[in-house]
Amino acid sequence: MHPRWNQIPPSPPVSTSGDVERSCSAKMQLFKVSIIFVLSAGTSVAIGKEVPSQWLETPTHWRNLAKEAILSKERQGPLEAVAKNGIFFIGDGMGLTSVSAARVFKGQRDDGARFGEESSLHMETFPYSGLSKTYCLDTQVADSSCSATAYLCGIKARFATAGLTPGVLFADCRGQNNTDLHVSSIVEWAQREGKSTGVVTSGRVTAIPGAANWAGIARRSWETDADVAEWGMNPEVCPDTGIQLLRKEAGQRLNVLLGGGRHRLTPVEKIDQETNSPGKRTDGRNIAEEWLVMKEGQTGTARYITGRDELMGLNVLEVDHLLGSFAMSELPWSDELERNNDPTMTEMVAVAIKILNKNPNGFFLFVHGSKIDSAHHSNRPGRALREIVEFDKAVKTGDEMTDDQDTLIVVSADHSHTMGYSGYNVRGNPILRHSIIPADDGFVFSTLNYANGPGPAWTNPDTGLRHNVLLDNTTNPNYELPVPVPLFSEAHSSEDVPIFAKGPYAHYFAGVQEQSSIPHLIAYALCVGDGLKNRHCIPSDETTTENLDPTTTPSSAPAHGLVYYLVLLTIFTIFHGRG
Ligand SMILES: *[C@@H]1O[C@H](CO)[C@@H](O)[C@H](O)[C@H]1NC(C)=O
Ligand SMILES: *[C@@H]1O[C@H](CO)[C@@H](O)[C@H](O)[C@H]1NC(C)=O
Ligand SMILES: [Zn+2]
Repeated sequence: MHPRWNQIPPSPPVSTSGDVERSCSAKMQLFKVSIIFVLSAGTSVAIGKEVPSQWLETPTHWRNLAKEAILSKERQGPLEAVAKNGIFFIGDGMGLTSVSAARVFKGQRDDGARFGEESSLHMETFPYSGLSKTYCLDTQVADSSCSATAYLCGIKARFATAGLTPGVLFADCRGQNNTDLHVSSIVEWAQREGKSTGVVTSGRVTAIPGAANWAGIARRSWETDADVAEWGMNPEVCPDTGIQLLRKEAGQRLNVLLGGGRHRLTPVEKIDQETNSPGKRTDGRNIAEEWLVMKEGQTGTARYITGRDELMGLNVLEVDHLLGSFAMSELPWSDELERNNDPTMTEMVAVAIKILNKNPNGFFLFVHGSKIDSAHHSNRPGRALREIVEFDKAVKTGDEMTDDQDTLIVVSADHSHTMGYSGYNVRGNPILRHSIIPADDGFVFSTLNYANGPGPAWTNPDTGLRHNVLLDNTTNPNYELPVPVPLFSEAHSSEDVPIFAKGPYAHYFAGVQEQSSIPHLIAYALCVGDGLKNRHCIPSDETTTENLDPTTTPSSAPAHGLVYYLVLLTIFTIFHGRG
């Protein structure tokens, strides 16, 4: 608590003119006195607004919750078994503050909660959580690209590059051309063990982070040949993420790819029927059509779709490969999807799981909630919180469609944003509104605030007075908060982001992790990749020793080691030299 709240408030700043300001100052003093009363007397009286005692939880309530927390740990315990399936959700820009605020928003809007603070997002019900350190190899604060290299490929690399080692500099076309400097992703590791794989995003299908699962790209925006050429580079030398979807093995083997970005899949000569606008590629290539042709050479049926109706009408039993690109660029905001015949994240995730789940070897699905980040960048907290709640519904669906015993679900973020959540408001104060206590300038301040961005100016240049948020319609989802530092796009933040985990080896995610450890931890649970293997990875009936459970026979570890070595050697031999 700020010490000033415990002191007699200082004199208000000298008012230069007018009754309005004087009355503000007077109110301010009254409010300060009130809050001092609240804090020192410990009652629930605040600014003439009293929370009735019968509305507030009793001490017994909190003790029972704690008991339930302990009992649920006793019941569940850590699960150490092979994860057949993995689902990895990334909420773009979904930092800790965003999660806290979204929980209150959901409680107040959807849950019928008395106050909202007591609500939970589905991801918050996961039994284990940890923190992820998101900085890039060469920058203090991450972008969504270097972070993708970390949480998908397992190494930290350079800002705005993806799927490449630090040996490749930003926009280093020749570096990208050197395949020795490419790194493989968790999607590729899962494919090598015979798992089906999918990528679902509310952004463009060719955009990073999703594309980092198959592509190595020296500049994250190189999604078409035109993007590469625009930067003065030769697309033949450093192909875009769309071309790499067709050329790189992880792209070729990807079963499901759903999102937006149709513009970047098609050439300028092709006019899109839905939007009557041309594609972006200048090399005449149509990635979607070529993808279908490529898939004809693989077993199973492939489909390319562009509308929600097609997605919902799909017979998942008959489809094994699915490319869906539902919008020209990013998908619209969640409340604008229906009228555009675009699917929700939940709908995309549900269809993806149904298709991928047909594989007896299991699957790995990467899900990217792109719109949270877009909202924060434009200083729209209402949008950001709505998008987190939508994203959370997809998490819930993924959880409900799979078995906790054989499916590891991990939910995290790539980086955070500057949004803060402050002020000593009365319990249940609408999260998108403002403080009851005015600041020292006599004006109230919003509960959520950004440090910078494109929102309106913090201070009115004509009057010198701070923007009066009291007059703003903060329930409008497009409402932009005023900001103290003008910036064309609100900047990412480097506060740690949460990791929520459930299923086999979920407890390994606890603690503070380097972001680059996350895919290795997933791989450990799934028995994929060439890193460390968990003790359950080799089924005991494939070995000759009677008892290979290391918990009862520690001496069996070397036998395990030999088997793993041989498996690794085989994998290495099979895959060595492939792009
Ligand atoms: C790109 O890589 C290929 C294959 O390694 C090589 O032959 C070619 O010279 C490289 N091009 C450039 C411009 O470095
Ligand atoms: C505030 O915005 C919401 C959502 O756009 C709208 O429904 C409402 O009428 C607006 N309220 C006022 C007072 O303008
Ligand atoms: Zn961003």
